[in-house]
Amino acid sequence: MNGYEKWDKKHVVHPKTHAYAFRKRLLEFVVQKGFRSIIEIGPGALVEYKIIKQRFPEVKYIIADVSDNILSKTSKQHPDIRRIRCAIEELESKVDSKEFDIVYASHVFEHTKNPQKAIKNAINSAKHFQFVFFKWRFEGDLKPSYRRKKAYWSSMFNIYMIEKEIKRYGNIERSFICNNKTGEQTDFNKYRRGKTGQHRTGNYLIYQGSSKS
Ligand SMILES: C[S@@+](CC[C@H](N)C(=O)[O-])C[C@H]1O[C@@H](n2cnc3c(N)ncnc32)[C@H](O)[C@@H]1O
Repeated sequence: MNGYEKWDKKHVVHPKTHAYAFRKRLLEFVVQKGFRSIIEIGPGALVEYKIIKQRFPEVKYIIADVSDNILSKTSKQHPDIRRIRCAIEELESKVDSKEFDIVYASHVFEHTKNPQKAIKNAINSAKHFQFVFFKWRFEGDLKPSYRRKKAYWSSMFNIYMIEKEIKRYGNIERSFICNNKTGEQTDFNKYRRGKTGQHRTGNYLIYQGSSKS
């Protein structure tokens, strides 16, 4: 028992989320910067991989996950992908520093046992990063909108801490909210200032940037 067994049993990615607009933001960043190698942590159903592979069949895509369930499913569907079985908090022991052009993680840090260590390990694995976080209830406290226990959220998680850790190891180029239906993008700093206290669902927070050398 290592505390990660829940990911082997759970239905980790609901099919209705596959079409959510935030998933296309990775392809845009890849096109804009000309990335050719991508490590995705906690890939779930590999939705973003399929979008990118269509456009760049030669892409070097690597996945890392704690879950045997996720890794064995992906190995059947996509045998060409290199897979790393580890917790994100231990990624540095499995890959070289800045080995990849970009590290991508969507809805993963929220679930980690040690979000600070997870951010450090993720950012150090690549030259750039893109991280997606779940929707928020109140911008004032930035707590998740689901019941924490049910969704296995880390009790250590809060977005101010995450942002501080990202800035410690990386330079944030952009932080924005993406609406899952319309794809509308709003600068996170404007959103923070303008809408405090309002109920928000269907909005995902995205950080893009580069790692410090
Ligand atoms: C909520 S799912 C997100 C799946 C997908 N990225 C998406 O956006 O639909 C969380 C994923 O992170 C993985 N995961 C959870 N904790 C992890 C950890 N500490 N290290 C690496 N992967 C982890 C789970 O196995 C699962 O694949």
